Amino acid sequence: MAKAISHFALLVLTFMLVQLDYSEQLQSSQAQTLVRIQRLLNYPTVLSSWNSSTDFCNTEPTSFLTVVCYEESITQLHIIGNKRAHMLPLNFSMDSFITTIVSLPDLKVLKLVSLGLWGPLPGKLSRLSSLEIVNMSSNFLYGAIPQELSSLTSLQTLILDENMLSGRLPDWLGSLPVLAVLSLRKNLFNGTVPKSFSDLNSLRVLALSHNHFYGEVPDLSGLTYLQELDLEDNALGPQFPKLGNKLVKLVLSKNRFRSGIPAELSSYYQLQRLDLSFNKFVGPFPPSLLSLPSITYLNISENKLTGMLFDNLSCNDGLEVVDLSSNLLSGHLPNCLLSGPKNRVVLYTRNCLTTANENQHPSSFCQNEALAVGILPQRKKSKQVSKAVLVSAIFGGIIGGILLAGLVFLLARRINARKTIKRPQTRLIAENASTGYTSKLLSDARYISQTMKLGALGLPAYRTFSLEEVEEATNNFNTSAFMGEGSQGQMYRGRLKDGSFVAIRCLKMKKSHSTRNFMHHIELISKLRHRHLVSALGHCFECYLDDSSVSRIFLIFEYVPNGTLRSRISEGRARRSLTWTQRIAAAIGVAKGIQFLHTGIVPGVYSNNLKITDILLDQNLVAKISSYNLPLLTENTGKVGHGTVSGSVDPTTSARAQHVDKVDVYDFGLILLEIIVGRPLNSKNEVDTLKDQLQAGIAADRAARLSMVDPAVNKSCLDQSLKTMMEICVRCLHKNPVERPSVEDVLWNLQFATQVQDAWHSQSQSSDGSPISPLQPPRLHHGHRSQK
Ligand SMILES: *[C@@H]1O[C@H](CO)[C@@H](O)[C@H](O)[C@H]1NC(C)=O
Ligand SMILES: *[C@@H]1O[C@H](CO)[C@@H](O)[C@H](O)[C@H]1NC(C)=O
Ligand SMILES: *[C@@H]1O[C@H](CO)[C@@H](O)[C@H](O)[C@H]1NC(C)=O
Ligand SMILES: *[C@@H]1O[C@H](CO)[C@@H](O)[C@H](O)[C@H]1NC(C)=O
Ligand SMILES: *[C@@H]1O[C@H](CO)[C@@H](O)[C@H](O)[C@H]1NC(C)=O
Ligand SMILES: *[C@@H]1O[C@H](CO)[C@@H](O)[C@H](O)[C@H]1NC(C)=O
Repeated sequence: MAKAISHFALLVLTFMLVQLDYSEQLQSSQAQTLVRIQRLLNYPTVLSSWNSSTDFCNTEPTSFLTVVCYEESITQLHIIGNKRAHMLPLNFSMDSFITTIVSLPDLKVLKLVSLGLWGPLPGKLSRLSSLEIVNMSSNFLYGAIPQELSSLTSLQTLILDENMLSGRLPDWLGSLPVLAVLSLRKNLFNGTVPKSFSDLNSLRVLALSHNHFYGEVPDLSGLTYLQELDLEDNALGPQFPKLGNKLVKLVLSKNRFRSGIPAELSSYYQLQRLDLSFNKFVGPFPPSLLSLPSITYLNISENKLTGMLFDNLSCNDGLEVVDLSSNLLSGHLPNCLLSGPKNRVVLYTRNCLTTANENQHPSSFCQNEALAVGILPQRKKSKQVSKAVLVSAIFGGIIGGILLAGLVFLLARRINARKTIKRPQTRLIAENASTGYTSKLLSDARYISQTMKLGALGLPAYRTFSLEEVEEATNNFNTSAFMGEGSQGQMYRGRLKDGSFVAIRCLKMKKSHSTRNFMHHIELISKLRHRHLVSALGHCFECYLDDSSVSRIFLIFEYVPNGTLRSRISEGRARRSLTWTQRIAAAIGVAKGIQFLHTGIVPGVYSNNLKITDILLDQNLVAKISSYNLPLLTENTGKVGHGTVSGSVDPTTSARAQHVDKVDVYDFGLILLEIIVGRPLNSKNEVDTLKDQLQAGIAADRAARLSMVDPAVNKSCLDQSLKTMMEICVRCLHKNPVERPSVEDVLWNLQFATQVQDAWHSQSQSSDGSPISPLQPPRLHHGHRSQK
């Protein structure tokens, strides 16, 4: 306008003429296009105000109809029709319609919603190269998303909700550089979500709900702007998606997720809506979700989430909806949920909560269901196994030694059951769990409370692990985590999220069995916890997808770091070798472990095939039995009669009732013998010879006795202590089981051996101060400055 100052009048006139002329031309062509659109859309009521003389660029925009012009060219066109009322007539052509639309070349925003558009989405839409926002929801579009749209590099928002589009999502969607909103709800898409979505760095909203997507969700943790992820009602899973922590809305309901809930979720400080309902999520429900600072809607209903709730948990004040129904939660409903605002919705039926008497299961139900919970990768096509193999593959009354000895399962079902009885893919695993059966088991498993108290020492509660956790702990079963392999499976060392180490035994199931078949077994394992047993921390079932039968069982045990008892007696260099006092303490530990196995649970666990190499030492040199057997409750597996006995174990109940406890006492005698003489015993003959020598030594003099004991300890052991140990050892090794001492007798003698040794120590320490009892804290050396 500065130029216009000198020749004001002329210039103004010219300008106006040019402007009018220019405007008129464009306006007319684009106006004609709009009128054509009106015709092609069969004159919908929303466009009833349009006629050839309408000033399109200057009409007031409404929520149904908006035309925005920039320099007399249309940049935005919104036509929102009448709720998908009807399809356009048969002579409608989507192709000619889009041909008409693309003659509005500057369109940046195109919304054509609920207009009854039908037909495939034409690729020529890509000629609108400035398009930034497209919303063509609630029409009848079908077919795939055309490849040509990949050239729409300015596209920020693509919304095609409520159509009938199908096929797989193209990979190129992931390379649209500025895509921020992708919403394809309620279509017929299938296939997996493209991995390329991990690269959609601008993505804010991803809504793929109500389609037929399946498989794992790609890693979206790098999408720092992602705020809304809606995957409801697909077949996605089983792993929880990897996500960034900026999410505001996360909807995973009605899918096939079966993992645990990752701990990171508790750090999603912006999360307002969390819907995990109708999946098979397992493992503990993190109560911290209730107190997320932004949470208003939390729905975890219909999962298999476990854990205790407490009165005193805290909740976010803004919570409006909390739905915990149909899980395996126990404990008390938090007070903060009950005392919230009036309009707050709190649902919690079908759990095992005690505060709520309304429609709750007994707590045993949740316990048992929790034990039966599973996870599942795709089943690999298993080879057909010959029927003959199965009968011989059975160990009689023993289901197996856990840990190093392995765990053997009785698998006596028809081998072809899997083929003939095909169960639906989505069957809930726990449907099969018969509470009747397991409550019987519970009543069988009466525990001696005193022993239980001891056993509870310092271990986290037994729980179900998710496959995800197990994989993470072992770095996907990395070879560096591999510890060894026995006949019944591999052993891995793992590290849990909290930093603690675990030992994981992986047992591959050869036959098709539901988790129910293993429940009683798992139940027993979960109860066999004691200071002197390597105790199970939990388990994880891996199930086949198609029939939910168990493919592998992972048993997660405490990790006992300090080697085997043998390595500290007869293999260790002198420096690592246990002192006499430490040896007695280890023997006492083993005896207490045996006592617990025999009497801590009813029926007791006998014939444990104890070996010195299966006794592990923890960092405080506490001895723990790592291999023990579990009696199988025969009614659960059907035809057990085919089984034959492995090893020295007599499975018949009469034998068990009589002397089977003395089998462990004999094995304990062998351990004691090695503890005393300090070298491995290679044959039965050697054992018998040594036993006779000890027998003679007891009657002989001190020097004779000391000559038999391990040279590494013979200077520090008191004769009376040594003599007691020899006596009890010889008695344990008695040929006649009846003559062997009871475990209690053994324990009493060992404790006596300790006491005399200790008494001697406290006298002698004042003079030379050398041996230190292993059970006392090590003394600080004088003259050393602390490091920090
Ligand atoms: C076009 O519509 C306007 C009202 O929207 C009306 O006033 C005008 O008469 C119409 N013109 C024609 C040619 O129908
Ligand atoms: C479709 O057919 C109707 C008559 O049935 C006609 O009025 C209309 O113009 C036709 N539309 C197209 C796009 O051919
Ligand atoms: C698409 O447009 C319709 C009509 O304006 C609107 O109701 C709907 O929310 C839009 N879709 C999305 C995902 O924003
Ligand atoms: C995916 O959808 C397409 C088109 O509807 C169909 O032909 C194909 O069989 C589907 N694939 C699967 C695995 O369901
Ligand atoms: C929780 O989700 C389920 C399934 O998605 C739904 O049926 C239920 O109504 C939801 N609960 C609440 C309180 O919204
Ligand atoms: C809540 O109660 C449980 C058991 O009643 C208790 O262990 C826990 O320490 C309590 N927590 C707080 C924060 O008071």
